[in-house]
Formats: sequence, structure tokens, C-alpha cells
Amino acid sequence: MIKFVDLNAQYDSIKHEINNAINEVLESTTFILGQQLTNFEKEFAGFCNAKYCSGLNTGTSALHLALLAKGIGKGDEVITTPNTFFATCEAISYTGAIPQFVDIDKETYNMDIEKLEKSITSKTKAIIPVHLYGQPADMKEIMEIAERHNLIVIEDACQAHGAEHHKKRVPIADIGCFSFYPAKNLGAYGEGGAVVTNDKEIDNIIRAYRDHGQIKRHVHKFIGYNYRFDEIQAAILRVKLRHLNKWIELRRKNTKIYNELLEDCDAVIPVEKEYNKHVYHLYVIRVKQRQKLIEHLNSKGVQTAIHYPTPIHLQEAYSFLGYKKGSFPIAEQYVDGILSLPMYPELKQEEIVFVVKSVKEFLK
Ligand SMILES: Cc1ncc(COP(=O)(O)O)c(C=O)c1O
Repeated sequence: MIKFVDLNAQYDSIKHEINNAINEVLESTTFILGQQLTNFEKEFAGFCNAKYCSGLNTGTSALHLALLAKGIGKGDEVITTPNTFFATCEAISYTGAIPQFVDIDKETYNMDIEKLEKSITSKTKAIIPVHLYGQPADMKEIMEIAERHNLIVIEDACQAHGAEHHKKRVPIADIGCFSFYPAKNLGAYGEGGAVVTNDKEIDNIIRAYRDHGQIKRHVHKFIGYNYRFDEIQAAILRVKLRHLNKWIELRRKNTKIYNELLEDCDAVIPVEKEYNKHVYHLYVIRVKQRQKLIEHLNSKGVQTAIHYPTPIHLQEAYSFLGYKKGSFPIAEQYVDGILSLPMYPELKQEEIVFVVKSVKEFLK
């Protein structure tokens, strides 16, 4: 069996460090918003080459609070992509704002820059580019468009820890959101998320929001949330962060093997733009007859997944926005062919060879 993601393989390689870190927290009996989190926040901000990081309970909360901290609310429109995880849009909806979509780029599957400017209206307040699968959206162009129209940019970097755009690590804009869901490139052993920013004031607002709007104990400046981060997860992430650069390089090495082996068959392989460093959270190909290929791979013991089978504008929850089939033709066409193959740092060369051999058996 070749798993889609094998979290055991990673745990086995760092077991002692992780167990010691968890024990340290148990001995300290500080379980929420303690020194482990303070240290992790410093270390993760440093990893992103940014000034501030506030740890939160999920990536969804990170998006929600980033939007609130930037003043997004009822009546505003926020542009994002329909080919993302549902949470990107949910966070927009939590604030009372309305998500609007722009179709995806044919090569990168990220927001199509050519179409972005045309979708801006008088109500547009912000853009949320999503660095899908680990490849940054075209931030240079997005920032220029945002500046021309006086729009806020909040990056959904939930899949892109350590990804680079023109040699700079994300977030490129002043504010970016991360998820530490277990299968992410930097994954907790539970839930986790963070907002990374260079703006001290934004960081302060987010810290207050995550803890019931408190600016100090029992002083509630506004109505906030309980989006606090726990110390065991912070301690685990501090251990894992020390390995993250190495794990990114292993994902890139595995991608190179996949790309070379898949070159001569009827599958569209991922494109890494020359100005980006892709961190391959997911390795996604496009094929015809996807369902039959999935069944064939299943029969060979190869697990796969689809990210994501339905573009968000066609989800029932967002039917009130009035989009229809045909609204975003590229996103709609691509969802029928995309297939995520097994990808994680510890995946072995012989396993990739087996996956590709199984793909090729079918495609022939
Ligand atoms: C692109 C994207 N946005 C947002 C999220 C939400 O993160 P979380 O699951 O930590 O709330 C995820 C993670 O699943 C994601 O992949």
C-alpha cells in the first residue's frame, strides 16, 4: 500500500524530539498561550522573514481574523479563486462580506491575473490569493493591481509554508495566513493556524481577537473569539520547524522524480513558474478518465485524492451568489481531470517509480 500521506513515517523520524517536547509541556502544566507559543511565534515569523506571527487554533480562524483586523465586513466584496478549500470563502462569509470569484490560470491553477482586474467592482475591498498546492499566486501582479485600486491583499498561504515568489518567502503582502492541519507541510498533531504580518498594530488586534477581545486580563476592548493556540501543538511545531527546510527539499526532489518519469505519458504535470519556489504540498496531475485511473491505482494499492472535486461557486452553500455552471470555465473544466498523487517528504524513490508505473499501465 502506498499511502497518500504517511504521517507515521515522519513521526518515526523525529519521535524522541517530539516526545521530549510534549513531556516538557506536561511538566510545565501551562497548556494555553504560554512560552512554547511565544517561542514558536518568533521562530515561525523568522522562517517567513516577517516581523510578527500570532498563533491561532486553525487556518480558518487565521483568515477570519486577518479579514476582521483589516476592517472587512458587511457589504464588502472580497475576490478569491473558486478552486480552493472551502474555508477560504467561509472566512469571508464569517465577516458578513461577500466572496466573489475569478477564474484560474491554465498553467498554475492559481488566480488568473488577466481576469482579476475586470472582476473588481466599487464594493471590492480585498483580494485573497490562494497559493494553491504550495505554489505562490502571481503576487507581483496582484500587488500592482491592488495598489491601483486601493485594495487590501490577504494571502491564503495555508498550503505554502516556505514557498517563494521572486526569491522572497510568502507572505509577500503585509499579511498572510497559515494552517497547521496535520497533513500540511508544517503540520501539528491536532489543529493550528497563524497570521504572519509586518504590521505591529494588526498583530496586536489579532492577539486580542483570539482571546475574547482582551488587551489585558479582564479588559475586553471588543467582542472577540476563543481562537487560542495550545502549548502542546506549539511545542510540536517548534520541533518540526527545525526540519521544515529539509522536508521542503525532499518534496521538491520527489517532484523532480515524478516529473521526469511522467514526462512521456498522457498526463499534464505541474508547472513551476520560473519566478516561484513551489513547495509541493500536493503533487497534482491532470488526466482523462480520472475515475477509472483512480480505480486502477486503488487496485494496485496506491491512494490518491482530489483537491478539489467541486469549485466553490458550484457548492450549494454558495448558490445564493447566483453563479452558474459556465461562470468559471477553466476551473470547471479542470476539476474533472485533477488528481493528487502520493506526496510527502519520506516517500521513497521506488514508491514513486511504482506509482508512475501504475499510472502508465492505465494511460497506455
Ligand atoms: C487553502 C486553504 N485555506 C484554508 C484552509 C483552512 O485551514 P484549517 O483547516 O487549519 O482551518 C486550508 C486547510 O485545510 C487550506 O488548504
